[in-house]
Amino acid sequence: MTSSEELADSSTSREAAGDSSQAARKGLPAEVARRRTFAVISHPDAGKSTLTEALALHARMISEAGAIHGKAGRKSTVSDWMEMEKARGISVSSTALQFNYRAAGSDIDHVINLVDTPGHSDFSEDTYRVLTAVDAAVMLIDAAKGLEPQTLKLFQVCRHRGIPVITVINKWDRPGQAPLELLDEISERIGLTPTPLFLPVGIAGDFRGLLRRGPEGEAEEYIHFTRTAGGATIAPEESLTPDEAEAREGEAWATAAEESELLSATGQDHDQEMFLAGQTSPVIYASAMLNFGVRQLLETLVALAPAPGPRADVNGTARATTDPFSAVIFKVQAGMDTAHRDRLAFMRIVSGEFERGMVVTHAQTGRPFATKYALTVFGRDRTTVDTAYPGDVVGLVNATALAPGHTLYVDKKVEFPPIPSFAPEHFAVLRAQSAGKYKQFRKAIDQLDSEGVVQVLRNDARGDASPVLAAVGPMQFEVVTARMLGEYNVETHLDFLPYTIARRTDAASADELGRQRGVEVFTRSDGVLLALFSDKWRLQYIEKEMPKMTLEPLVAAAD
Ligand code: G4P
Repeated sequence: MTSSEELADSSTSREAAGDSSQAARKGLPAEVARRRTFAVISHPDAGKSTLTEALALHARMISEAGAIHGKAGRKSTVSDWMEMEKARGISVSSTALQFNYRAAGSDIDHVINLVDTPGHSDFSEDTYRVLTAVDAAVMLIDAAKGLEPQTLKLFQVCRHRGIPVITVINKWDRPGQAPLELLDEISERIGLTPTPLFLPVGIAGDFRGLLRRGPEGEAEEYIHFTRTAGGATIAPEESLTPDEAEAREGEAWATAAEESELLSATGQDHDQEMFLAGQTSPVIYASAMLNFGVRQLLETLVALAPAPGPRADVNGTARATTDPFSAVIFKVQAGMDTAHRDRLAFMRIVSGEFERGMVVTHAQTGRPFATKYALTVFGRDRTTVDTAYPGDVVGLVNATALAPGHTLYVDKKVEFPPIPSFAPEHFAVLRAQSAGKYKQFRKAIDQLDSEGVVQVLRNDARGDASPVLAAVGPMQFEVVTARMLGEYNVETHLDFLPYTIARRTDAASADELGRQRGVEVFTRSDGVLLALFSDKWRLQYIEKEMPKMTLEPLVAAAD
């Protein structure tokens, strides 16, 4: 089904539902059907924070973009919280923004859950965890820069997890590449067929509006945008017929209409099944800063992105959204707010209705867990959640036993597959500067370990006083030392180790491997034995000379 058919289909079915839609909205299936849970994936600086703010503006959560932190402070918008993040212009934390959105002509308030992902590649393990919690992704591309390394990596994660991707080509208000050139880059470099729903009218740098494409590439509508001062408020839209558009925009319209036909000739029209199968990606051209194309993105999410669906448990059995309550923990974070030094575990609800106060079972320990304090968190804002449904993200306060990948459920036991740890590539010994702080140091290590901030490795030879930290990206170490000082008042220093590769080994191989030069064996806190190698030549040599040793690759960050 094509995009416009899909849009038309959903609006007619809504009309047909008439009065009964009010009743149909009640109940779990209707709550699930009106939810859309997604993340924005992008290379830093593509405009993720600006887009988040533009979405909040369209959902009327804020009245002016830039009002929260001031125009100059757009870098630290609603989703940023840590000093280090602000200083470096990165976002480490993962939280969720929930808002209602009523599409044009609809009588249903959709519930949109935008789950924030860390911007920097050093936190790719975190990002992977977040992407286990969403049903769709918006791939945000800077029109002038095209595909960038982090976009590519994150896209691979989406492909790996079978997450459908909507592409937004941002910053069309600035000079950039030709529209079709960018699309070629997407299909050539990532093997995804881009199927624009809207094409820009006006070249990059002269963004006048969007041409809405019909099912077979015919120009259906021209949406003309008017700029507002500094892009602070929603850009007024005017809808024109193709003839009116031709008369008003002349060449710019004719070019866009021609491009649309060219795309159809190469089969680049939206196909819902192929989109859901991860073979095609609907494309929207936009300017997050001017709020052009932002409403179109919301309408697309509502019309095309999948509602929460069933999830396979460890036995491969599908857990339907209408089954009793279950949820997956995908993120644990402490000290998010210096005024509340608590620990929050974020769960994505998989099935059933969540009611605050309900007692659920923690699958990993079999223990009951009382959900008295349940919150939504976005930036510094915290709101108590009384009821939530599949697709929603809820933060549970002081959930000390919960770790990423854990399952919560009611009634019959269910357990979802664990989230894989990534192969670390950076290793360092962490030491407390003062021996007097040892108790706090230990407590902090355990805390940061269970949150998944870094992996913690130990072996008998090194003892327990100075554990080895293992990270996918070195910035994870900075988070550790900053939080050690900020939250636990422990000054630490790192001694980097000359290892670059980790392999999973077993008890039978550990002793002998540990005796080899350039190799050291550790136990990770989840009990996995890891052999560390200085470089790939050392690893290849050992593999050749000692073929009986167990040396299994771990999930690589770039997989
Ligand atoms: P990020 O979260 O993906 O890292 O990106 P962010 O939103 O912080 O945007 C990065 C820069 O790109 C910012 O500029 C922002 O204003 C700009 N930007 C975002 N979307 C658009 C757009 O649609 N058009 C244009 N022209 N620029 C856009 P900055 O100079 O770093 O900050 P600022 O002083 O402009 O706020």
